Amino acid sequence: MTELTIAIAKGRLQAETFDLLTTAGLGFSSETLSSRRLAVEDESGRYCLIFVKPADVPVYVERGIADCGIVGRDVLLESDTDLLQPLSLNIGVCRIVVAAKNDTPLNELGMLRVATKYPRIAAQHFGARGVAVDIIKLSGSVELAPVLGLADCIVDLVETGKTLQENGLSTIEVITDSAARLVVNRASYQLKADALGQFIRSLENTLRRRTNDD
Ligand code: PRP
Repeated sequence: MTELTIAIAKGRLQAETFDLLTTAGLGFSSETLSSRRLAVEDESGRYCLIFVKPADVPVYVERGIADCGIVGRDVLLESDTDLLQPLSLNIGVCRIVVAAKNDTPLNELGMLRVATKYPRIAAQHFGARGVAVDIIKLSGSVELAPVLGLADCIVDLVETGKTLQENGLSTIEVITDSAARLVVNRASYQLKADALGQFIRSLENTLRRRTNDD
């Protein structure tokens, strides 16, 4: 019988997440790995994985459909959910930055037009500095906005820095660091303490081994 349901963020984190879970002892058949099913069980049948958009991971976990999930801190900062965050997983390591065209003097502008997938993080960041901003919410390819004149700057994720560089943008300010986190539903943490405790320990051991191997 399935003991734990784990929500996995589809997309850029997915491969690293699978790698981490496999190293932590979960097994998946090649058929499972290549399928497009959105809910699968591991070989032991103890774990059910559901694959959802990153922004939906906190929603599934907060509402208890999933007991826990793996998702970036960037997504958690943007979401207004109440979850336990017992572990930072050292995968999906990146930064959330303010970036602009190489020749844009931002401090000479009045109301700053900020394009971003992270309106909450952007509003908090500029609000704390008393900077007036017009936040333009986009769903992706955010780097295009300053290039095409839609925005003066962006608030976005930077991992390798290649997308910024290849679009003639550079980092003005690092807002915060981000990495994937294990998030846990509050009720599951109590009701499934044994299963979650064991899962968390296996992830911790994997992280420790990885650090020692570095
Ligand atoms: C993210 C982010 C940047 C890019 C940064 O976008 O929003 O655009 O990756 O990565 P880099 O620093 O390694 O170049 P993502 O690939 O998730 O696609 P999106 O633009 O469609 O959101």
